[in-house]
This record gives sequence, C-alpha cells and structure tokens, in this order.
Amino acid sequence: MNPWQPDSWRSKPILQQPAYDNQAELKSVEATLSTYPPLVFAAEARELRRQLGQVCDGKGFLLQGGDCAESFSEFNAPKIRDTFKVLLQMAIVMTFAGRCPVTKVARMAGQYAKPRSSDHETINGVTLPSYRGDIINSFEFTEAARRPDPQRLVEAYHRSSATLNLLRAFAQGGLADLHEVNRWNMTFLENNPQKDKYQDISRRIQDTLEFMDVIGINSANTPVLHETSLFTSHEALLLNYEEALTRVDTLTGKPYDCSAHMVWIGERTRQLDHAHIEFFRGIHNPIGVKVGPTMDEDELIKLIDVLNPNNDPGRLTFITRMGADKLEANLPRLLRRVKAEGRNVVWSSDPMHGNTIKASSGYKTRNFDAILSEIKQFFQAHEAEGTYAGGIHLEMTGQHVTECTGGAYEISDDDLAKAYKTQCDPRLNADQVLEMAFLISDHLRSI
Ligand code: PEP
Ligand code: CO
Repeated sequence: MNPWQPDSWRSKPILQQPAYDNQAELKSVEATLSTYPPLVFAAEARELRRQLGQVCDGKGFLLQGGDCAESFSEFNAPKIRDTFKVLLQMAIVMTFAGRCPVTKVARMAGQYAKPRSSDHETINGVTLPSYRGDIINSFEFTEAARRPDPQRLVEAYHRSSATLNLLRAFAQGGLADLHEVNRWNMTFLENNPQKDKYQDISRRIQDTLEFMDVIGINSANTPVLHETSLFTSHEALLLNYEEALTRVDTLTGKPYDCSAHMVWIGERTRQLDHAHIEFFRGIHNPIGVKVGPTMDEDELIKLIDVLNPNNDPGRLTFITRMGADKLEANLPRLLRRVKAEGRNVVWSSDPMHGNTIKASSGYKTRNFDAILSEIKQFFQAHEAEGTYAGGIHLEMTGQHVTECTGGAYEISDDDLAKAYKTQCDPRLNADQVLEMAFLISDHLRSI
C-alpha cells in the first residue's frame, strides 16, 4: 500500500461526486477551508472512539440519528433544539429502561452531502443534474440551482459550526439537566399513546433525583446530572471538504478529519480500491461503513484489514442496512465470519435505508412495521450468533412530520402529504422515534 496523505484519495476512482465547472474556484475554496479552525477537537473524537470501544465490548449502546440531509433552508434553532431533545429523550428511555449507557451521536452539523441513485433528474421532459445535498447544489429544480457551487463548501462549514455551537450550548448549558429533561416530557407527550409508560419512567427518575438530592448529590455538585455529551457525525462523501478539514492533532501527531467526531462511508462508495476507503484508512476518527445485503464475507474482512488493521475496538462500526426481507439471509453470515476471525467491530442497525418504498401517492416512504421488523431481526440475529447488537442508526427529526407510514398514530399513505418536508429520505417523527425507543429498550433489557 502506498503511503497515506490527506489527498492520496485523489489518485483513486471515485463515485457520487459533483462535476464542478470551475476547478480554479473549487481549489481556492479548498485552500480557504484548510486554514479555518477545525470544527471538533481530536481529543473529542478519541473520547467517542473510547466509548465505542466499550460498546464493542457489550458495555454500552450507540444511538445515532438525525436528518437524512440537513438543509440550509431549515437551519434554525427550534429545528436543532427539537432534534436534540428527541435524541436525548430516546437516550434517557434507553438508559433507564434498558439499564445501558447510551452514546449519543447526531447526524447533524455537517450532514449535507448525499449520494443519489441517478446523476440526473427529469421532470416534465426537463433533465437537470440531481440534487446532491446543500453542500453541493440546491434542491430547487432550475438549472442555476442545480449547478454545483464550490462556495457552498464554505457555507456548509459555517452552518455546521453554528449548529455545533448550539448543540454544545444545549448539552452543557442546562437544557440537558436531568431535572429539566423530566420537565419537558409532559408537553412533548400530551397526545402520545406511550404517555403512561413514559410518565412512569419519568416518575422513577424523579424519585431517584429526589433521593440523591437528600443525600447531597445534585446538579450543582455533580456535572453528570447537569450536562450531557453529544457527538456529531455525517457521511463523508464530498472528500474535497473532508480533506480540507483534516488536521494533524498536536497531542498525538495523528491526522483527524475535524469536520465531525465520527464520519461514515455510504453503501454506494465503499469499494475497496476507491477513494473513500483510501481517505478513511488514514484518519484516526471512529468511522462507520454502511453494509447492505450484497456485501460478501471476504470483502467485509478485507475492509476490516484496510480500515482497522490493529483490530482496535471502537475504531470501526458496521452500520447494517439490509431491509427487513433480506436481513435473515445476509446478516447472520456476516456476523459469523467476523466473529470467527476475531475482529472487533461495533454492529449497529440502520433499519431505514433497506426499507424505502414508493407509496401509491408517489411519496418515498418507509413503514414503521418494516423498520421495527428489521430492528427486531437485528437483535435476534445477534442473539443467535452470540454477537452484540451495539447500536441503532435512524433518520429522524424532532418535528411532527408525516414521512414514514404507520406507528401508533397510524399515518397512512394519504396522510403523507400533510407534513412531508424532507429533501431526501423520509424520517421518523418525534412520536414514532419515542415509540421505537421503548421497543428497543425492551430488547436491551432482555439481553
Ligand atoms: C444515508 O445514510 O442517508 C444513506 C444514503 O445511506 P446508505 O449509504 O446506507 O444508502
Ligand atoms: Co438517507
């Protein structure tokens, strides 16, 4: 293997990239970004890697979630706050009901680049380049909007920075105080069928907090009650951006991609001899790879050889996205092989991307039952193979959208039009996510 450099990916084949018409402008933007401050600190990425190492050993659970694609148009505090809240709420349910420490990783503050099934989109006889995420072009269906614009890399950096700033403030500034979290529950759950179950947990947390208070443990003297930690992640698809944010850590001398704590490679760009694997092998962040039903066992082992040669627990997370109808035939064979070879990986389930369908109304959707079925089968497969089901990866939002069908509110195909806001894949809404959290914690408790 040739020596790794932040730009060694450039000599490899690469898929899912925009065709910029002004290369000089792109170069200049990359040069500018490479002088900007990193968005995260390498030591934070190491802390996440340590926590994922615990997950790998069966001593924790990874909760990763957020939008399919963040957008510049929905860039505001309530949106960021609501997703933060729902992630936190899910984590609390899972920690308390599942008796399991939960590491929270948001698909936020940088989830701006999207792989697409087609390079072009045709509407009413007009063909334009596909929308590839707001870091590349705009969703609007006009020629100007769909032109890949290098300035969007800088724009994405600033928006990621502002998002991260608010997330850090929420995590440390009091919003995540356990006493406070217990207070938000009520309004959030007013019409939720899971309300009683949630209130029961909430009461038990309240009792615990009151007891601790009596014996002198409170938010003022115990930071863990007052603060939380939330890490960020995104699909590192646009390597021009990721390279420009790669920095050598002054403490360890190792390169980190400082655009997020964790980055992952998508299902469409994980070819062994391609650019994304090349870039990822050299950065020291905790990394993920999406694994679909066509993955072959030998290929998976080769991926581990390249991406985690030292077999470090916490370095590599496989995010499996099989589809409820394909999981049984494909996940066990992969689990078996990785276990037989003694490789340390975190197994996380993305129950969204293998279960996308087109509704009769024309909307791209996912059914709650199919999502749930993939999660259940994921837990069952791990139990049968003696491996650890370590995490969940969801496309979700804190807003009350109608993008996935089913759930306790029984969103139907006809309801989808009511609040279908995603620019990319359909997300679980706040109610559906919370329902999911209860079902997952039942599984966590039984293992
Ligand atoms: C995604 O996570 O939004 C995505 C595109 O997933 P995948 O690479 O698994 O298709
Ligand atoms: Co998606």
